[in-house]
Amino acid sequence: MDDKQIRLLIDKAIAASENSVCNFSRFKVGAAILSKDGRIFTGCNIENSSLTMVMCAERVALYKAISEGCKEFTAIAVAAEGQDFCPPCGSCRQILFEFAPDIKVIMADSKKDYTIKKIEELLPIAFRFQKR
Ligand code: THU
Repeated sequence: MDDKQIRLLIDKAIAASENSVCNFSRFKVGAAILSKDGRIFTGCNIENSSLTMVMCAERVALYKAISEGCKEFTAIAVAAEGQDFCPPCGSCRQILFEFAPDIKVIMADSKKDYTIKKIEELLPIAFRFQKR
């Protein structure tokens, strides 16, 4: 991944965050995932009045990609309003690990500075279902 590709993913994640539905948290998150075939899918967080059935930006992007036939992934960028990097929540780490075990997670701040970690670094000693 070169810096140009990383910047493109961050820009797309930030743009997607504008579509966030976050009436409860007021915390806008966007994500952009790059599949190995070169396609990019974006997502934003979507909240509703149940307060519990929140859907994170990362999973929206991942599920959009999977539903369009993508099977392997290179990187996902995550961006949120505010100063700090936005690390994926525990649920998203588990899902990303299962569907995209090689993925690199680009965490951007609002100044577009970023840090990159492999998913296995974000979720060490991950649970994996052992089929019998
Ligand atoms: N959120 C995400 O979309 N991704 C994350 O990695 C962290 C949290 C959303 C969920 C909820 O809508 C809001 O941020 C506050 O938790």
